Amino acid sequence: MMPLLEANGLTKHYEVETGGFFRRTKTALRAVDGVDLTIEPGETLGLVGESGCGKSTLGRLLIRLVPATAGRVIFDGTEITELSPKALRAVRRGMQIVFQDPFGALNPRMSVEETVMEPLLIHGSRRNAAAREAVARMLEMVGLPNSARYRFPHEFSGGQRQRIGIARALILRPKLVVCDEPVSALDVSVQAQIVNLLSDLQAELGLTYLFIAHDLGVVKHISTRVAVMYLGKIVEVADKRSLYARPLHPYTQALLASVPITHPAQRKRGPTRETRITGDIPTALAPPSGCRFHTRCPHVMPVCRTEEPAMRTGEDGHQAACHLVPG
Ligand SMILES: Nc1ncnc2c1ncn2[C@@H]1O[C@H](COP(=O)(O)OP(=O)(O)O)[C@@H](O)[C@H]1O
Ligand SMILES: [Mg+2]
Repeated sequence: MMPLLEANGLTKHYEVETGGFFRRTKTALRAVDGVDLTIEPGETLGLVGESGCGKSTLGRLLIRLVPATAGRVIFDGTEITELSPKALRAVRRGMQIVFQDPFGALNPRMSVEETVMEPLLIHGSRRNAAAREAVARMLEMVGLPNSARYRFPHEFSGGQRQRIGIARALILRPKLVVCDEPVSALDVSVQAQIVNLLSDLQAELGLTYLFIAHDLGVVKHISTRVAVMYLGKIVEVADKRSLYARPLHPYTQALLASVPITHPAQRKRGPTRETRITGDIPTALAPPSGCRFHTRCPHVMPVCRTEEPAMRTGEDGHQAACHLVPG
């Protein structure tokens, strides 16, 4: 089967000013650095990594909300990296995003109906009975009462606002939805409701998700496969089962060790000595040489400081970029 989305060598460098007051220089901040990725139709690819590792930038590059510095993205058979604005607009219908912050993402001056209808209008629909009917159906699908349509975002709780954000993202019936930490800003008690809603909508509408989170616990339930990102690079990708049962990269092992453990027998053990990561995440302005994780890796070897490990693929398609993983 052809992937719904394929990225090759996808790279985003931001030019940032560094240095003191008198000696400013421009430095490339390597937010995303040579990412290869595929997303299969109908799957949920979980994307996990610490804050600042480039997850949001990658998610936005994939749907071209931000232009790439290098690399290419093929969505549904079309290379979207170099499309003209007009051609891009047609492709955009097929790829939407749900943002992390349901408070900041919605225009406070627009009613729920205007908010959810706006993408339809942008893509050429008229503000007519059919559009209002489409909004009503969408509100029902995300579990909001019809009476919500004339109210404003500030009148809703965080969870309900995220439902509005989801309705807005899905009104155009996209194929791919980038869910950028859609539950990170919500109370723990409503996180599961939103994840379940996204899961139900996926089945109902045949959606494909890139589901971003900063810990492996959140994506475990919803993902088909999981990709782990560290300082602008994907360091491991595997089927969910394989990744959680047999993580190959020391960074993934460390992330798994810090997942809140719910089973009481396991809780006592806590992170093992081998997998606990030490030190702060290095800066993307000057990533470490060789393997970028070597400054924090409990298994670091001399080769890790000088040679960047290639992505190696095991028999079951489990991929990891680590010198300890046999090639
Ligand atoms: N518009 C921007 N200009 C400059 N640097 C940026 C911009 N957006 C993100 N960054 C930087 O790129 C890196 C990755 O950010 P981001 O993609 O938001 O990471 P994540 O979503 O994993 O937290 C960070 O170092 C961040 O500071
Ligand atoms: Mg982010």
